[in-house]
Amino acid sequence: MMRIAIGNDHTAVDMREAVSAHLKERGFEVVEVGSFSRESSNYPEFGEKVARTVVSGEADLGIAICGTGVGISIACNKVKGIRAVCCSEPYSARMSRQHNNSNVLCFGARVIGVELAKMIVDEWLDAQFLGGRHQTRIDMIAEIENKG
Ligand code: RB5
Repeated sequence: MMRIAIGNDHTAVDMREAVSAHLKERGFEVVEVGSFSRESSNYPEFGEKVARTVVSGEADLGIAICGTGVGISIACNKVKGIRAVCCSEPYSARMSRQHNNSNVLCFGARVIGVELAKMIVDEWLDAQFLGGRHQTRIDMIAEIENKG
């Protein structure tokens, strides 16, 4: 079964618990990287943990949640090989896998509710990368990354 890394800052402890429970109900293995505390914390730390868990192969995909989803997605995208998407609706979530082969999904615990988050997660997990011309474009992104 697929393994999903999940991480969050202090704003998203409840959201992470709800999403994590949903993933487990669906039969996914979940790798929780924190934060487990509601004390103020720094989203880059947990974004990096999710991202490194994915690029190391310890997890197949990652989910990273902060207040807006913005900061943590920026942090994830600094790790080579990560294509993190920050989105608040299911259409972009699905397309980000079909066209962009996103490997980390981010959203904001202060932006969307738990039920919408679960719908976005399901749409994202159930979509498949389409390859072909989309692979060419992803290769172009990797070239940008390789230029440093
Ligand atoms: C924390 O206050 C907040 O800045 C963080 O959760 C996130 O929204 C950053 O992008």
